[in-house]
Amino acid sequence: MNKIALITGANSGVGLATAKGLAKAGYDLILLVRSKQKAESSKNEILAAFPNTKIDFEIGDLEDVNSIVKAAENIKSRYSKIDRIINNAGYSPDSIAFTKEGYEKSFVANHLGHFALTTNLLPLIAASGEGRIINVSSGANAFGNVARMFQKNNTTLNTMKAYGDGKLANILFTKGLAAKLGKKPVLSFSLHPGVVNSNFGANFTGFSKFMIGLMKPFMITPEKGAMTSLFLATTELSNVHGLSGQYFDKSKVKAVNNKDLTDEYIELIWQKSEEAVIEIMKAQ
Ligand SMILES: NC(=O)c1ccc[n+]([C@@H]2O[C@H](COP(=O)([O-])OP(=O)(O)OC[C@H]3O[C@@H](n4cnc5c(N)ncnc54)[C@H](OP(=O)(O)O)[C@@H]3O)[C@@H](O)[C@H]2O)c1
Repeated sequence: MNKIALITGANSGVGLATAKGLAKAGYDLILLVRSKQKAESSKNEILAAFPNTKIDFEIGDLEDVNSIVKAAENIKSRYSKIDRIINNAGYSPDSIAFTKEGYEKSFVANHLGHFALTTNLLPLIAASGEGRIINVSSGANAFGNVARMFQKNNTTLNTMKAYGDGKLANILFTKGLAAKLGKKPVLSFSLHPGVVNSNFGANFTGFSKFMIGLMKPFMITPEKGAMTSLFLATTELSNVHGLSGQYFDKSKVKAVNNKDLTDEYIELIWQKSEEAVIEIMKAQ
């Protein structure tokens, strides 16, 4: 029986390249994408290159936690195990906007949606026997700050701080998973994919758009950007044994330079994320 990998944001950039890499490695795929049209187009593109791949998809918008919880329930009704969860989807906002509960929208998509998805699917990943959860973060975690993360309608936020908060939360969540799942056969990793020429920044306007245009010629391809995710998903267990919770860059462990990476904050983020998910679900 093939291994099964769930990938968010599998219709573009690093996520699509990761899905293709996993198809090549013989994985069955579940693509979590926010539009049916994009999911079908990705599925066709992957099948054109790897026709024997079993590809399923689930529709969910990570900014809408309720749709993600529903997607997780649908997945649980069809599968009894998942071997890899690759929380890849994400974006940097071009302006600050809040959900009706007051959470910054990119923080919800980049962290809370993935938190809800993953925690709902923990029984399936634990059933793998050798499950791995891979969270695509960013070097921009350096701009993140825990004290800001759950402040509601925070008008002092800017786009760099908001993106940094989500990406730091990915790393804290990874460490929280490693701590909580230590006795289960599940590993968790976070990573920086590199500076990748993808659709990332396609929403930018003004100066940000100008800057990303200047950087384009120096960016790596999505295929190169997918290499660390693919390494962490597919490498022999012996190569990552004892490294659960770590942050990777270029397929190697890298130290995270953020003063908020403390055990106290790892636990706090977990608790606050649980509370926020429950709050959002109750407000449905
Ligand atoms: N590109 C870089 O230089 C860079 C650097 C560091 C980290 N990263 C991280 O790498 C990951 C992949 O980014 P990328 O470069 O491949 O960018 P991309 O081409 O823009 O792909 C991002 C993916 O995320 C999906 N997504 C965004 N918001 C979503 C939502 N609310 N619900 C569901 N899916 C959503 C997008 O779907 P749609 O097509 O529907 O928008 C798309 O599939 C992100 O987590 C990003 O933060 C990228």
